[in-house]
Amino acid sequence: MASPILVLILGLTLAVGPRAMADPTLSHPPLTDQPGDPVRGLAVVRDASRASCLICHSIATLPDRDQGGLGPPLDGVAARLDAGQMRQRIVDARRVSPDTIMPPYHATAGLFAVGAKWVGQTLYSAQDVEDVVAFLMTLKD
Ligand code: HEC
Repeated sequence: MASPILVLILGLTLAVGPRAMADPTLSHPPLTDQPGDPVRGLAVVRDASRASCLICHSIATLPDRDQGGLGPPLDGVAARLDAGQMRQRIVDARRVSPDTIMPPYHATAGLFAVGAKWVGQTLYSAQDVEDVVAFLMTLKD
């Protein structure tokens, strides 16, 4: 008979297995043919009606007060990630970091208790995502 410890280890491995497949280098292709507009992207980033990035992140070059500290500062993020990796985090950061608190801005699957009015809708449109990526790519240092 298999030892209970082995069964436990196997069970835990199966339970966490798919999560171990999360990939920080995961890249998402562009969502539109239209190149992103960084100026519009900054306005989207600040949009308090759609889970502003600044609730959780800080960007030292912005004058905005009460910037967040729950996520890493986004200063210099363009030196750490390329546009595809940046896009993947905005579209659905759970693919990169399964337990993340960062909202999936362009995904409709795997959400809980979504209000009837918002079922099937994303927080950001495809062009919003491209504009935000274009803005983030300006944060080189
Ligand atoms: C509710 C909090 C929250 C919000 C809102 C949020 N994020 Fe995040 N974000 C995080 C956390 C926490 C991480 C760290 C990764 C993790 O969770 O494992 C992160 C990681 C990131 C990263 C990777 C940074 C790095 O250095 O690797 C980027 C880029 C990013 N977020 C951009 C954004 C953008 C752009 C927005 C708005 C569209 C946003 N985030 C909104 C919490 C948030």
